[in-house]
Amino acid sequence: MSYVNVDTIEELLSLGPMPAVKDPYPIYKKLRDESPVFETKSSDETSISGNPRSVLITRYDDVKQVLKDDETFSSAIVQRTMGVVMGPTIVGMDGKEHLKHRTLVTPSLTTRALKRDSDFPTLVRKIADDYIDKFANKGAVDLHAAFCFDFPLTVFTSLLGLPAGDVEKVHKWGQALCLVAFDPAAGLEASENLYNYMISIVQAKRKEPQDDMISMLVQAEVDGEKLSDLEVISFLRLLTLAGAETTNHLIGTSFVAMTRNPELFEQVKADRSLVPTMLEEAMRWESPVSTVMREAVCDTEIGGIPVEKDTAIICHIGSANRDERQFNDPDTFNMNRDEGDAIPFGYGRHYCAGSHLAKLEGEIGMNALLDRLDNVRAQPGEDYSVVGFSFRGPDRVPITFDTV
Ligand code: HEM
Repeated sequence: MSYVNVDTIEELLSLGPMPAVKDPYPIYKKLRDESPVFETKSSDETSISGNPRSVLITRYDDVKQVLKDDETFSSAIVQRTMGVVMGPTIVGMDGKEHLKHRTLVTPSLTTRALKRDSDFPTLVRKIADDYIDKFANKGAVDLHAAFCFDFPLTVFTSLLGLPAGDVEKVHKWGQALCLVAFDPAAGLEASENLYNYMISIVQAKRKEPQDDMISMLVQAEVDGEKLSDLEVISFLRLLTLAGAETTNHLIGTSFVAMTRNPELFEQVKADRSLVPTMLEEAMRWESPVSTVMREAVCDTEIGGIPVEKDTAIICHIGSANRDERQFNDPDTFNMNRDEGDAIPFGYGRHYCAGSHLAKLEGEIGMNALLDRLDNVRAQPGEDYSVVGFSFRGPDRVPITFDTV
């Protein structure tokens, strides 16, 4: 893998959502200090969202202000862009429509729903162990390819009751959905493939509901209204995307931090109560979902700077979580922080609906790896890193280890 060095935000923005850029943080720091509401596109350029201009915001307080004020800053832009491949989903809805749909879909993702089957954590652990079994006696592995990439999606597909053999196919479609702005044809093809794959499953669950997530979705009712097949499938497409490019980065990023500082590995291995703290700090340090979009519905201001109606706003969560105005020594991975309030799962009404699942998978997966691997170190001479712009995660995690 060759990594790209970039010095300016213009270069970075030209590289797409997952460029192999190791350390864009000096660029974000400069923006926070000198240009916290940075114009990325003026009205004489065209863009996929159709907005006449667009700004990138990088300060913690500004990102929170925009995500909190959903009356001034709409998510409809997400529907016009990602909605092309996902269909109608809560992430692109505002106001009452959002509330109604969120009430319909989120019960299927709460801790109670996930643990309704008390065997669910046991099943997640078994999935983790099955992946670890494949490399446990080898002494060296790329953890990203051998574990992080497939583990969360296997959990997710088993939650939906899909065949285990379909994980790879579903994962590829999920990734293609993420890249729709850069490869529309592949995004649309993946969207259609997911529809064709899911429709017979959804219809079968409508006829004969069982105790699983899709059955909950098809039966959910608010004010006498149920979700249509298209709405259920659109939500499943959103979850596929969320499953493909988020949770997989949690464990990988934690291992990047631990191989850079092996003492951290020994500390967390010895005291498992630190696992949730480690995952939280990993998500602050390298936020898997680093940007989310909004648009201004009227002339307004962000952090005191005027912003015109219809401006698209790229809210940089990853930069907000490294803002020195909020976090001491923000570039350092530090499990002893007491500032709190990092926002890797977003903020306000669109706060991540899958955060319980992400944390549950992260904790169980991490504990399985800590139980079964000893003396984890980076493979000598290997260059690897967390990379990306809109999404951040390691592309490889080459480690050596002793088997417990
Ligand atoms: C580490 C893992 C994850 C991170 C960092 C993450 C991050 C986020 C963020 C930042 C948002 C807010 C989007 C916005 O404001 O426009 C979001 C929304 C959402 N996430 Fe996650 N996510 C993760 C895992 C998951 C998982 C595993 C699922 C489900 C399988 C999921 C489902 C959702 C849904 C349904 C929404 C939309 C909520 C709404 O619009 O009301 N996420 N996520």
